[in-house]
Amino acid sequence: MSPTIVILAAGLGTRMRSRRAKVLHPLAGRPMISYVVRTALAAKPSEVIVIIGYQADEVRAAVEREVQRWERAQATRPEERPQIEFVLQPEPQGTGHALMVARDALARGEGPLVVLSGDMPLVRAETVTELVEYHQKARQVATIVTMHLPDPSGYGRILRTPDGDFVRIVEDRDASEEERAIQEVNSGLYCFDRKPLIGSLDRLTPDNRQGEYYLTDVPLILTSLGYRVGTWECHAADQLVGINSRRDLAEVEARLRKEIAHRWLESGVTLHDPATIYIDDTVEIGQDTVIYPHVILEGETVIGQECTIHSWTRISNSRVGDRVTIHNSSVVIESRIGDDASIGPFAHLRGEAEIANQVVIGNFVEVKKSVVGRGSKARHLAYLGDATIGERVNIGAGTITCNFDGKRKHRTIIEDDVHIGSDTMLVAPVRVGRGAVTGAGAVVIRDVPEKTLVVGVPAVEKKKVEP
Ligand code: UD1
Ligand code: CA
Repeated sequence: MSPTIVILAAGLGTRMRSRRAKVLHPLAGRPMISYVVRTALAAKPSEVIVIIGYQADEVRAAVEREVQRWERAQATRPEERPQIEFVLQPEPQGTGHALMVARDALARGEGPLVVLSGDMPLVRAETVTELVEYHQKARQVATIVTMHLPDPSGYGRILRTPDGDFVRIVEDRDASEEERAIQEVNSGLYCFDRKPLIGSLDRLTPDNRQGEYYLTDVPLILTSLGYRVGTWECHAADQLVGINSRRDLAEVEARLRKEIAHRWLESGVTLHDPATIYIDDTVEIGQDTVIYPHVILEGETVIGQECTIHSWTRISNSRVGDRVTIHNSSVVIESRIGDDASIGPFAHLRGEAEIANQVVIGNFVEVKKSVVGRGSKARHLAYLGDATIGERVNIGAGTITCNFDGKRKHRTIIEDDVHIGSDTMLVAPVRVGRGAVTGAGAVVIRDVPEKTLVVGVPAVEKKKVEP
């Protein structure tokens, strides 16, 4: 029977020293909780119950975003979707209390209950499935997943009889010196039979150093009621790391980044010195793309095939076509670049810049909220903001779209085959007609008719031209 998965995510995460809930801290571009949600969904549960409390709205939104992403990726039919339920734990009074407030939700379903922590982002769905299988075969009402750690500090320790039978879990802060030396720890991942678990929750007391209701007291309560409780030592302990501090966060992120890099290397992307290349988990990269050291690819970025991305470039939430070259130290944010384009070095594209195929954007060119048509070129030193630029346009060095009059932004329209002379100021709103030419240093304050040369300050019509 498919399990119900409970995700504990109501805590603040005091040890992070942050105003942001621990489970919302990003790891390789996604909030920590989203990894746990993905694992939960991949384990094919009948239902997922998420306990939220601190920054509940934000945590809920992060969970919902991940569920939507999952559904898009899997193309799941509505009837195959597990139910997602949120339960509010208004005060974080401990991991046991988190289940106490969810009692009604837990009682509604059937099948085993798996408990996952929102701060365990590396657990794999196969591990959850194996746990449920083990739990059912072992015929016990609680299975605690344990691991041996060279440095067990911070974790609950597993106490056993001299014969090796499970006795109870003692929390780090409540443990004696002797108990602290035990290297077998509670991973924070469990499987329970639903009814005995619910029955034991009433018996929890906050009688400990932290004054909290510990979920880790449940196993002892169950044994005292005569139930069978056991442990399962996970073969893949590295999946079970819990993040409590920013140091843990940094270590886990480094591991995730390594895994992500390996994934792209295996799928046919060249990474020169992968240790210095930061690729978010949300990024897609096409085959035969080559990435040089110190490149950062963030957010919902998609890079096409056979691109070359040179060092010190950052691309965030953007789409890059095929065979694009991005030279050193360019910044591309929320923009689109077509096929066969060449960007940089030192280019800055932002605010929905739309760069068509075969465009060249050269050094020290900033493009903001502008469309640059096929085959157009702005090779050096320009600001193109709020502009619509046609095809085969040449933008001379030093060109500026003067889009801001001190109060409002205005658009500049440059039609096909225009030649903008060096150092032209285009004072928006302004339109430069098809095939027109502006002389070097022109300050264009009025629309320029088609095929007309304008020169001077302010620019005046000089003569008709053939593009
Ligand atoms: C917990 C275990 C510990 C185990 C470790 C593994 C308890 C008492 N201790 O300790 O034995 O070795 O995990 O990583 O369970 N949460 C709530 N509501 C609360 C408190 C916590 O939802 O009132 C959530 C947190 O948001 C977090 C998770 O439960 O996602 C675990 O809480 P945390 O404080 O990190 O527990 P640990 O001290 O790590
Ligand atoms: Ca923890």
